[in-house]
Amino acid sequence: MAKQIATNITWHAGHVEREQRNELLKQRGATIWFTGLSACGKSTIAFTLEHALVEQRGHLSYVLDGDNIRHGLNKNLGFSPEDRNENIRRIGEVAKLFADAGVLTCTSFISPYRVDRDQARKIHEEAGLPFIEVFVKASVETCEQRDPKGLYKKARAGEIPEFTGVSAPYEEPLNAEIVLETEELSVEQSAQVVLNYLVEQGLLREA
Ligand code: ADX
Repeated sequence: MAKQIATNITWHAGHVEREQRNELLKQRGATIWFTGLSACGKSTIAFTLEHALVEQRGHLSYVLDGDNIRHGLNKNLGFSPEDRNENIRRIGEVAKLFADAGVLTCTSFISPYRVDRDQARKIHEEAGLPFIEVFVKASVETCEQRDPKGLYKKARAGEIPEFTGVSAPYEEPLNAEIVLETEELSVEQSAQVVLNYLVEQGLLREA
């Protein structure tokens, strides 16, 4: 867990309540946490969901995507267990801020370690914010067949060290709110499953 280093800092509460922001946006801010192997379909499903929420339903949604975030905020991190831990710690905190702001926040990170995902869940629960873990399920064999970026091929050739599913672990969720069987569902069907869940949970109010 990250250590508090700064001292002499004081929390300054704002004058706008979370409920006011939720009322303004006609939705409840939440984090929808997609986890799974590289090429399992996390980002494709997350971006499809974001699009459906914004275009079809008139809701504010935003995707925090692993590859994209590693171009900016987390460009100084690699793929060692320590760096992945810091990657997920930062994104857990950023997603929590977005959710508090009222946004339906989709995160798309392999997030291979249970302890890191559980920590992201914990900080949301402590803040009273919904955290929905979505396990985007596909076997290593399936992901390796899809291999849209050719990374499994490179990893098998020894060109990418610590590659998840090949030479680094992936710990499957034990209690995910949603499991998407991507070998059976289309991208659209998977996004619809998550959208239905958001409706059932009362997170989307009609605008
Ligand atoms: S995480 O493990 O720290 O959550 P993250 O989702 O941010 O990973 O980034 C994974 C993406 O980085 C993959 O989709 C892939 O494109 C790329 N990548 C590059 N090297 C690796 C690696 N060693 N293991 C996994 N993914 C890698």
